[in-house]
Amino acid sequence: MRNPELAIKVRAVDRHTPIVKSLRWPTESATQEFARQLAQHPSLQGAVVTLRGDLGAGKTTLVRHLLRTLGVSGRIKSPTFALVETYELPNFTVWHFDFYRFSDPREWEEAGFRDIFCGPGLKFVEWPEKACGMLPQADLDIDLVTELDESRAVRLTSYSALGVALLVGTPLLQEPP
Ligand SMILES: Nc1ncnc2c1ncn2[C@@H]1O[C@H](COP(=O)(O)OP(=O)(O)OP(=O)(O)O)[C@@H](O)[C@H]1O
Ligand SMILES: [Mg+2]
Repeated sequence: MRNPELAIKVRAVDRHTPIVKSLRWPTESATQEFARQLAQHPSLQGAVVTLRGDLGAGKTTLVRHLLRTLGVSGRIKSPTFALVETYELPNFTVWHFDFYRFSDPREWEEAGFRDIFCGPGLKFVEWPEKACGMLPQADLDIDLVTELDESRAVRLTSYSALGVALLVGTPLLQEPP
């Protein structure tokens, strides 16, 4: 979909009552297992997934495990400095954003971010709060909190039909917290 206005309208119509699910990841292996399951969901390839949490909460780690399951080999860099890393997969493209250092709204247009968010493909977004007002509504938000024992308390919120499908279709999310 190359028409930005149309894309924004479609997303606005798709807005859903948020559904929240909670999980706990005691170790990185649990994060990896969740990533493996989410990566296998057939609807993920069109999703906008935002990732929240402090520095070191595990946002990039989750995306790395997702990308590995999707077949990305080689080094997976954190996009902290480049703002975005792109992965061309056989059937779709994945964009991994990190807006921690994003400060100039003009860059949104100049770097083509508007076009990326209006087009197809999978988008992961770390530090979405730094680009608020420009980002479209996410399908799924993943919020990570590091607990005293280093486990991660995870809150997943869906904001669209696609997001609900991701929550419903991911086996780990069907278990009691
Ligand atoms: N359960 C867990 N899930 C994810 N990462 C974990 C977990 N337990 C420990 N870690 C470790 O925590 C670190 C998380 O770092 P990561 O770069 O993913 O954080 P981040 O949220 O992307 O930070 P930033 O905001 O700086 O980009 C990694 O070193 C990872 O190995
Ligand atoms: Mg990161």
